Amino acid sequence: MSAESDLVAPADTGVHQKAVNQGVAPATYGQGDRPPRGDYAQARTDYTCEQDWATYSAADHDLYRRLYERQAAQLPGLACDEFIAAVKHLGSPTHIPRFDALSDAVYRATRWEVVAVPGLIPEEAFFSLLSRRKFPVTGWIRKPEEFDYVVEPDVFHDLFGHVPLLFNPMFADYMQAYGAGGLKASRLESCEYLARLYWYTVEFGLIDTPAGLRAYGAGILSSAGELRHSVTSPQPRRVGFDLERIMRTRYTIDSYQSSYFVIDSFQQLFDATAPDFTPLYRRVAAQDEIAAGSVVAADRLY
Ligand SMILES: [Fe+2]
Repeated sequence: MSAESDLVAPADTGVHQKAVNQGVAPATYGQGDRPPRGDYAQARTDYTCEQDWATYSAADHDLYRRLYERQAAQLPGLACDEFIAAVKHLGSPTHIPRFDALSDAVYRATRWEVVAVPGLIPEEAFFSLLSRRKFPVTGWIRKPEEFDYVVEPDVFHDLFGHVPLLFNPMFADYMQAYGAGGLKASRLESCEYLARLYWYTVEFGLIDTPAGLRAYGAGILSSAGELRHSVTSPQPRRVGFDLERIMRTRYTIDSYQSSYFVIDSFQQLFDATAPDFTPLYRRVAAQDEIAAGSVVAADRLY
């Protein structure tokens, strides 16, 4: 099976497992009838933990290297220039990076930090970390038999997919704004709409460039098969970025996306999401949802 979206959104409709930390359950997503993968016993109250780099085996590092090399070979012509320029900050692919060294490098660039977490964490904890410019990265790596597909995001998805664009100042600011917006959406019970924004931008976003469409979403960039599919396949719909349209659009987590949304620039993304979402949430709630893969009259198609 080729890799599909190897992640879940931070705020998808979650089934909460029994509490393991501070009376707050780590959110699991999708079917949700199993506990989240990862050791939560060592996590702090904000769900961060130590990376415990010494526990990675030689096989773990080798698996990371193979995942990295497979993806890196595909980037030219498919990934956006900003991502390609920044991926070198991950360092040598021969071993899983040490988060503390990587964190120092991101901090020097954009004042973001990389922090370890046991795995999926609750929405509010996730939003809180982002709002403080701390990006949570799962410590564990998938098993060899999960080379092509892993259900929950692992260290490879989180690092390779997400961390390079944290070196981009505009995207870094967008991520912080998203976290702050998430905390507010939690109070307004609008997390589902905001989760769609994350899904269709941070995880599965495309950007229009003079050289053609390119991927910037982490779910695409860390997927063996979806990177090419998202940019070149005639099958999916590629729709010009429209915030309200995105918030109305459902998504699927177990297949390649049938809809992608295309931004013109990270500036556009930041500017479009700067206003107060409160009236927008009300408008979205008053309208029908849109199925993934469908087209509506106002769509600007690529
Ligand atoms: Fe992700």
